[in-house]
Amino acid sequence: MTMTKFAVVADGVEKRYGGVAALKGVDIRIPEGSVYGLIGPNGAGKSTMFDVLCGITKPTTGSVNVLGMDVTKLPAYAVARRGVGRTFQRTAMFKESTVRENLLYACYGKMQHSVLHRIFRLPVWRHDMAVFEEKVDEVLAVCGLSELRNNEASSLAYGIQRRLAVAIMLMNDPKILFLDEPVAGMNEAETAEFIQLLRTVGCGRTIVIVEHDMAAIGALCDDVMVMVDGRAIVTDTPDRALKHPDVITAYLGADDDQRW
Ligand SMILES: Nc1ncnc2c1ncn2[C@@H]1O[C@H](COP(=O)(O)OP(=O)(O)O)[C@@H](O)[C@H]1O
Ligand SMILES: [Mg+2]
Repeated sequence: MTMTKFAVVADGVEKRYGGVAALKGVDIRIPEGSVYGLIGPNGAGKSTMFDVLCGITKPTTGSVNVLGMDVTKLPAYAVARRGVGRTFQRTAMFKESTVRENLLYACYGKMQHSVLHRIFRLPVWRHDMAVFEEKVDEVLAVCGLSELRNNEASSLAYGIQRRLAVAIMLMNDPKILFLDEPVAGMNEAETAEFIQLLRTVGCGRTIVIVEHDMAAIGALCDDVMVMVDGRAIVTDTPDRALKHPDVITAYLGADDDQRW
């Protein structure tokens, strides 16, 4: 018998905002190396759960363990430094810098050299830059951005900017990626290409996605957790979950303005 290893283990997660209970006791197990989706109507608690898992929001009660770290006890930057990557719905990048420069800024934190090392081009700086250039070449190739390395981020089409956001994350070799509505606002061709990219990037990594595009969820996810009103109602493969009677009931019961 093989034991499943989990990248994420959370139990009894509750989150209250004043009188509002956004999460009412959620348990989650995300197998290492899998692509896992959080779905459900607006207001279900997906974003709150997502933020709790990547250490941005502290739960009111409950335990959250990601890659063996208790993320409820660590500041968000420390979580980010230890193998947890995250993209934001609004792409976080330096718009007036080039693609290459954005990748450089992404890994400054890991470099050893000081300003003086750089000014005098000392060996510490040269070593850092050699390591960096090799990594950049690799990441740009994976993300299909090699030709665009010297282009300004602001000049890139929206779908390409989203690829750059993934590239920025990959510079720090994350073991788990959290993606908030990764294909929102993309056209059909961009969506298809991005799904392909995530499949490649997901090799040997765990990916957690919040996404309204059910076709993208079906194409990417091994498992989904369906959330309704602060609880997880069903956890299964996308196909089976979307056919589950409780999910259909919740879906039909949702107001027209409550997107999934
Ligand atoms: N910072 C906040 N302050 C107060 N209420 C919040 C806050 N964040 C989320 N909520 C509430 O928690 C519930 C779940 O929200 P959210 O996690 O954003 O759901 P989803 O992402 O599934 O749409 C909603 O009722 C929302 O209004
Ligand atoms: Mg949300």
